[in-house]
Amino acid sequence: MSLKRRLEGVVPPSLMERVPTSFEIIGSRGGAVAVVEIPEELEEYKYEIARAITAANKHVKAVLRKLGGRTGDYRLYNFEVLIEGPTEVLHKEHGYYIKVDPTKVYFSSRDQTDRLDIAKKVGEGERVLYLFAGVGPYAIAIAKFARPKLIVAVELNPWGFKYIVENFKINKIKNAVAVHGDVAAVAPLFRGKFDRVLMTLPLGAYKYLPLAFQCLERGGVVHFYHLGREEDPYRDAEEIVKNVCPDCQIIGKRIVRDYAPGVYKVRVDVYKPP
Ligand SMILES: C[S@@+](CC[C@H](N)C(=O)[O-])C[C@H]1O[C@@H](n2cnc3c(N)ncnc32)[C@H](O)[C@@H]1O
Repeated sequence: MSLKRRLEGVVPPSLMERVPTSFEIIGSRGGAVAVVEIPEELEEYKYEIARAITAANKHVKAVLRKLGGRTGDYRLYNFEVLIEGPTEVLHKEHGYYIKVDPTKVYFSSRDQTDRLDIAKKVGEGERVLYLFAGVGPYAIAIAKFARPKLIVAVELNPWGFKYIVENFKINKIKNAVAVHGDVAAVAPLFRGKFDRVLMTLPLGAYKYLPLAFQCLERGGVVHFYHLGREEDPYRDAEEIVKNVCPDCQIIGKRIVRDYAPGVYKVRVDVYKPP
């Protein structure tokens, strides 16, 4: 039964169209947290909405309402707790597990298709530098579905670093390491050491693009994430790449998902020749 159907007779018909049609569930059968956006007009019905979510999803133990967009270096939402419960969960995705507390560190289940797409591109024996790693989900997907020699995941948020280390253990990943620190300070230590660099910070990765190219050994691929307007989603990203690396070739492009009305999160795959 949809959320709307469950709220019939609770929310007045005039406000029914404002009831959210979707929400994100992070976790698994053992326990999950729901993240929902509720418009101001529905303020007085917010607890009924939260209860309707848990009634329909018995494994959801906590319901969090997003207040505004992601903010700060750690890219976190401010949440209003509508139903209190544990927020550290074990999320299952494509057969692997991701331990995360979305109140402490970035995670989006909506990036899961992109993770598989990246994993498919990694060749046997590659060394992958994963910048802006959060709780490490791309590293887990790569380790599970490709055969890299080494993955190095770099994250600024200490909670992210802690979860990356745990997630590598939970998924029995041996050929990956986590580094806690600022990409600006850590990446220069890895100049000339990698075959592929992943830059999963759409709002700011461009500042580190020259550094990412320097981390490639003799050429290789950089996956650059950026934001783009729906009229021409790749224009800005392509222009940035052209300015930073005129010899590079764009070998792939992807709309990862919606970011805001009229704005997409995009990925541009860039090949730097030796
Ligand atoms: C958009 S999130 C992506 C996280 C993860 N790759 C994922 O897909 O779930 C970007 C991450 O970069 C981290 N971050 C932001 N600035 C950073 C910096 N200068 N150095 C290292 N990590 C940084 C944030 O804490 C955040 O966890």
